[in-house]
Amino acid sequence: MTYTSPVPITDGHLYTGSSLELRGLTMAYGDIEVLRDVSLTVEPGTTTCIIGPSGSGKSTLLRGVNRLHEPSGGDVLLAGESVLRQKPDVVRRRIGLVFQHFNLFPDHTALENVALALRNVKRMSRAEANRIAHERLAEVGLAERADHRPRDLSGGQQQRVAIARALAMEPEVMLFDEATSALDPELVKGVLSLMAQLAQRGMTMLVVTHEMGFARRVADQVVFMDEGRVVEHGHPDDLFDRPQSPRLRRFLSEVL
Ligand SMILES: Nc1ncnc2c1ncn2[C@@H]1O[C@H](COP(=O)(O)OP(=O)(O)OP(=O)(O)O)[C@@H](O)[C@H]1O
Ligand SMILES: [Mg+2]
Repeated sequence: MTYTSPVPITDGHLYTGSSLELRGLTMAYGDIEVLRDVSLTVEPGTTTCIIGPSGSGKSTLLRGVNRLHEPSGGDVLLAGESVLRQKPDVVRRRIGLVFQHFNLFPDHTALENVALALRNVKRMSRAEANRIAHERLAEVGLAERADHRPRDLSGGQQQRVAIARALAMEPEVMLFDEATSALDPELVKGVLSLMAQLAQRGMTMLVVTHEMGFARRVADQVVFMDEGRVVEHGHPDDLFDRPQSPRLRRFLSEVL
């Protein structure tokens, strides 16, 4: 499957993503440690895909990066600065997160869903917020759908609104957690194409995904996790074609 995008590149704008570095990150729920000493570096403007079995700690890792759940040890550096020493809402402005379930406000249009975040978080005027919301919706191929409510949009279009909303904050890094797994199969491709385009345009991205084709084609680096640890990481060709550990070989034989 190729990811030729249905979304026109509006203006050739390139993002200036920041580096993201996890150093010995450890996370727990109560007494149960679910992430153990995870270190990885995402270079600015590159995409890292995290793969691994259910329960291996992938979502927990993303929650630690943007402070939805506090790490119990280690550090997360954004552009070289510890996010643990910044206010959580500042961190969440700098690091965008797109979930499996898009969490749009059902009673607001696509435009309002994007603009509300700008008004509430960035304290923009209504006119300015609407102008930027229109731009971001155009960027995800939804210029014509700005006045639709979520129920009048497909799942894929709703997810693109959620991505536009995250992009409107001008994040330095984007995190995606299974962004396409709630979508009908025929809608997956459009969202993956948009994500591939963001990667091409220089966004720094950390993407948890079950889409191995996407990981192979788009990722600069793939990280395989199991039981809260990084088991293997490297170039997608190496991980997919020459897996070193028996655990990764078994995982790939189950998912490919
Ligand atoms: N809120 C929570 N409270 C207690 N334990 C949790 C909580 N969230 C996750 N866990 C546990 O932490 C471990 C890692 O979960 P996590 O959701 O990070 O895995 P995952 O790799 O994202 O899995 P999946 O592929 O199914 O989404 C699991 O054992 C899970 O049961
Ligand atoms: Mg998960």
